[in-house]
Amino acid sequence: MVAVPDELRRTGFAATERRDAWWVAPLLQGTVLAVLITYANWAALQNANYRWGGYLSPLYSPLITISWLPLPPSLLILLPPVLFRATCYYYRKAYYRSYFLDPPACAVGELRGNRYRGETAFPLVLQNLHRYLFYITFLYLPFLWSDVVHATSFGGSFGVGIGTLVILANTTALTLYSFSCHSARHLIGGSLDCFSCSAGARARHAAWKGASVLNARHMLFAWVSFFTVCSADLYVRLVASGVIHDIRLL
Ligand code: FES
Repeated sequence: MVAVPDELRRTGFAATERRDAWWVAPLLQGTVLAVLITYANWAALQNANYRWGGYLSPLYSPLITISWLPLPPSLLILLPPVLFRATCYYYRKAYYRSYFLDPPACAVGELRGNRYRGETAFPLVLQNLHRYLFYITFLYLPFLWSDVVHATSFGGSFGVGIGTLVILANTTALTLYSFSCHSARHLIGGSLDCFSCSAGARARHAAWKGASVLNARHMLFAWVSFFTVCSADLYVRLVASGVIHDIRLL
């Protein structure tokens, strides 16, 4: 490969030596993300058709049934998960590229003023709250797994419907998304100077290696779990509103 002399290098927004279609990924991910965010916001504001039998939409879990709340309870429920996703290392990369064009892709000139301070000053310094949001949203997982159990209850007897599988798939995806988080990996194996110095440290090292395998697929889990959250809500919504009928498999 021939190096490009400094004086011939193009600079400025979107300047690049890349020959591939680098703009496809940010365009695609920005579009899909916008569709999913729009759907989730719309569904969270409906405050209806989020429950059918033992099925509960993940956007309304854990279930809050306080009638005097001035806002749909989903807005309260979703605040920590939304902030968790907004500060996620993967989503940061995605929306910095797609929406802020900062940079739009690797080795492509960014759209940036000369007052750039990265994530060291307000408001982006708040991205550092991610680890605390991980602790909070981790508490949602037991509720989501109890939703899976409830989704196997049909009038008091055990059963499995398409909705059970949809809710199970979503909870599995959200669990993988949480366990593959960079903060989870740090919690499991971070702040250790020696991985082999004690039985406890060796156990943490083994767990950290497992977390690292998941972490390498974090982008995949980020997308799949966002799709499954919206799909599970849509399925419950369509069944609850009578548009489709749930098919009982067992
Ligand atoms: S880095 Fe993505 S959820 Fe923590």
